[in-house]
Amino acid sequence: MTAALEIRGLHKSFGALAVTRDVNLTLERGARQALIGPNGAGKTTLVNLITGVLQPNSGQVLLDGEDITRLSQAKRTRRGIARTFQINQLFRGLTVLENVYLAVAERTGACNKLWRPAGAERAVIAEALAHLDSLRLADDALKLVRELPYGRLRLVEIAIALALRPKVLLLDEPAAGVPSSESHLILDVIAGLDPDIAILIIEHDMDVVFRVAKRITVLVQGAVLTDGTPAEIVADERVRAVYLGEEARHG
Ligand SMILES: Nc1ncnc2c1ncn2[C@@H]1O[C@H](COP(=O)(O)OP(=O)(O)OP(=O)(O)O)[C@@H](O)[C@H]1O
Ligand SMILES: [Mg+2]
Repeated sequence: MTAALEIRGLHKSFGALAVTRDVNLTLERGARQALIGPNGAGKTTLVNLITGVLQPNSGQVLLDGEDITRLSQAKRTRRGIARTFQINQLFRGLTVLENVYLAVAERTGACNKLWRPAGAERAVIAEALAHLDSLRLADDALKLVRELPYGRLRLVEIAIALALRPKVLLLDEPAAGVPSSESHLILDVIAGLDPDIAILIIEHDMDVVFRVAKRITVLVQGAVLTDGTPAEIVADERVRAVYLGEEARHG
């Protein structure tokens, strides 16, 4: 079966600094995969290369077996690659429902049509509400984004990503900055996502990683150190050495 996402020999340098070095990574359909590694390992850079924010110096990104390396960000989104929206890109003066409505309308093209078929708008609202419901945000639907606490905003980001009906969902530290009393909400939501969506989650909190991921890829200094099941990664001396080294440096 064709992988949902495949990265082949990806390389990216900023000047003399190579931040992505010959990275190969495969996300199967419905994958629950984590990308871990020390600060500055190149995890976010990889997300930027996958979504088209950055262009690699060499290598390929394939979605469903099709080469998308040269496609714009917008085209990749339309083909089914979503990352969690950045909070600062939300419309703070609009309600949560309106924000998700706009994402659904954008995907379906409902915004662009002067003459909409009767009921089209209602269908967009219904879908937006369904996304909010699945993220347990229904009670917040009519609240303004600017009134929501940070943990809830991170859920709104996920709702907007889901409104794009992605095949591949990239979650870059979805629980970062969320108080630990609320982080279980984000975990529950991730656990409940459509099993067909391939998910790559970047996360420093190993409890989160082990709860979500069935496979783990370890990135160190821009290169894949290893990948495997959580049990294999825990047992891997090289991975331990990387993290023990980190602990020693941070005291
Ligand atoms: N636009 C840029 N120009 C120059 N260097 C960059 C740029 N973006 C990232 N880098 C460098 O690339 C390296 C990888 O950064 P990246 O943000 O991808 O790491 P990360 O693994 O996501 O780290 P963290 O866990 O802290 O989020 C770092 O050394 C960073 O300073
Ligand atoms: Mg990062």
